Amino acid sequence: MNGLKRGVRAVFARLENLLDRLCTPAFNPLGQLGALGWFLFWLIAISGIYLYIFFDTGVTQAYTSIESITQDQWWAGGIMRSFHRYASDGLVVVAFLHMLREFGLDRLRGRRWFAWITGLLLIGFIYVCGITGYWMVWDQLAQYVALTTSAWLDALPIFAEPISRNFLNNASLSGRFFTLMVYVHIAAPLLMLLFMWIHIQRYNYARVNPPRRMMVVAVAAFVALSLLDPALSQAPANLDALAVSVRLDWFYVALYPLTETVGAPALWWGVILAFVVLAALPWLPPQRESPPAEVHLDNCNGCGRCFADCPFGAITMQPRSDGAAFSEEAVVEADLCVRCGICVGACPTATPFRRATALIPGIEMPAFNLASLRNQIETLGRDLTGDARVLMFRCPNGAAVATSPGVAIVEVPCVGMVPPPFLDLIVRRRLADGVLLAGCGESECYERLGIDWTEQRIAARRDPYLRDNVPRERVAVSWAGSGQVAMRANTLAQFSAALIAGAAKSGPSASSAAWRDTASRLPRPVRYAGLGGIVAASGLLLGFLSDTPAVQLRGADEAVVTLSFSHAGELKEKCRVLTPEEMARLEPNMRRPSDCTRARWPVYVELELDGHTVYAARHAPAGLWDDGPSSLFARFRVPAGAQRAEVRLRDTGRESGFDASSTAELDLQPGQNLVIEFRQPGGFSFR
Ligand code: HEM
Ligand code: SF4
Ligand code: SF4
Repeated sequence: MNGLKRGVRAVFARLENLLDRLCTPAFNPLGQLGALGWFLFWLIAISGIYLYIFFDTGVTQAYTSIESITQDQWWAGGIMRSFHRYASDGLVVVAFLHMLREFGLDRLRGRRWFAWITGLLLIGFIYVCGITGYWMVWDQLAQYVALTTSAWLDALPIFAEPISRNFLNNASLSGRFFTLMVYVHIAAPLLMLLFMWIHIQRYNYARVNPPRRMMVVAVAAFVALSLLDPALSQAPANLDALAVSVRLDWFYVALYPLTETVGAPALWWGVILAFVVLAALPWLPPQRESPPAEVHLDNCNGCGRCFADCPFGAITMQPRSDGAAFSEEAVVEADLCVRCGICVGACPTATPFRRATALIPGIEMPAFNLASLRNQIETLGRDLTGDARVLMFRCPNGAAVATSPGVAIVEVPCVGMVPPPFLDLIVRRRLADGVLLAGCGESECYERLGIDWTEQRIAARRDPYLRDNVPRERVAVSWAGSGQVAMRANTLAQFSAALIAGAAKSGPSASSAAWRDTASRLPRPVRYAGLGGIVAASGLLLGFLSDTPAVQLRGADEAVVTLSFSHAGELKEKCRVLTPEEMARLEPNMRRPSDCTRARWPVYVELELDGHTVYAARHAPAGLWDDGPSSLFARFRVPAGAQRAEVRLRDTGRESGFDASSTAELDLQPGQNLVIEFRQPGGFSFR
């Protein structure tokens, strides 16, 4: 599993490296996938509401109303429709990329299982929304979606009568099921929104809006795609005839052709297995955890900074329980704490200058206490040699770096755990010439907010901040993911050189922000061209896969025969009339004229075409007591032309012979859907 994660992470690292250089880390879309998901949801909702205003929900009117939206007002409704489709396709891509990235970054194990599991449910919602959306157009794709979804659902042994029987032919089609789809298409996004909200409940300051410039680029790209490659309906649905092929939206219905090739039950097992494996990932293998953050009330003044900085909402401020003069105290909810230590970096009592009393801050990581951190930096600092002695705080998720006589590394769970007074101590006491905070890649902080808080504390924009008189030239940051080893080595080399060059200088700092290397940014024309190329290529791929390639539904010279019934076999035992004595023995409210067992015989049916048996099977009655109807919906592709059809059915306990049969001379046209149905009374019909 770890190898797979490393592989996924390496692929993302390469892509992110490229995009960092093209769009800068702040605008790297791969670092904003969750926020992009939210943004796409709003775009889909707004365009959907517009379409719904003009949409006619009747099964016959749906197609014409959508055609009119697309053609008559192409400049508004047409664009909105395409926009709605492409943004929905984009959401699928974004959700899967987001899932893969979180997997690669291993942000799913331990306490982080919650977002992973709710994320999986969101994928389900995305699909319900998309599939019901295609259904509503009631064109050839909708027909394919309706028939295939029904066939897939019918493989579950829960429906008394196959759902597919709603789509036997045009005559049997009722608006009831169609209206249900419209309701589902409205209810599912609302529920999805609720789950999106639940998904981020364990995160403080969850990023739900991408940067404005990214939103503008996304909207412009979708509008351009909508104009260049407008989303159009296919031919209207016609259940009496089957098209030769249908163009699919591969983002939503890529698995549908498998119902034909591997069969609906196998597809169910595949999907269930995939879900179970994905849902088990947070515990594969279980994460070994150190103890959660611990509050030392003696040193907690109830300032609430840890509460404000905890990225995972694991801290609440509650009324004081120890009688101290402060009104509140911090309380850690162990179940939510991911052991990042960021709260320790936020606590104003975490100052290493204190000597009179033991170094115990208001909040601390029991497995990583600050007193030992102070000892460690003092010891390491003493051993450093050279002209540019650097003490580096490194988190385990960022790029690795080699030590040298001039560089010592202190491993911390997250750089956000290092309280600013520790940087002050290192610089003021000359434990090193410079201190480097080396965290994860800029858009992939494993603990979400470690990078943001560190930058803000150093720039004196967030409490507790680094004192103004600490020269910022001596405090550097390096944000490099595990795949950016060379970049980190380069930053370290640049920082060391800057320390040597600046050693002679003194005076106030030029900037209040941390020192950082000059990023190797590509020239502007190259960046814009590269970015334009990526947006255009993604748009074209989206447009292409949203309706290409088509799948073949039947051969040009083939027709379809549908065999179907929902029919209750005869009762296994005849009802027995009760004698007056038997009646008298029963309680008055239980008296009945006859005694009937409920079980019914299965229904056996066989179909021959031109003397060849194309179907022969026994269908058990539905219901827990075998007292419901037996039912069947089966389709066969057959050569068009003249055929002699013989169909027979047995619904009693007889060993041989049949209770109903019929024969017909058919003349099947290419594409024709001929329905052979059994009903009682009436027997078999061929329509
Ligand atoms: C509509 C689809 C989705 C949306 C809108 C969405 C949105 C978000 C947002 C806004 C965050 C918080 C990001 C931050 O501020 O750090 C997040 C985190 C997360 N999402 Fe999603 N998400 C979606 C689907 C998924 C899926 C399909 C999965 C995986 C199965 C997933 C797994 C996660 C995980 C594991 C995190 C937490 C990462 C961490 O612990 O830092 N999400 N998501
Ligand atoms: S260790 Fe991290 S998750 Fe736990 S309480 Fe502190 S800041 Fe919150
Ligand atoms: S930051 Fe420290 S002092 Fe402030 S509430 Fe949290 S534990 Fe208490």
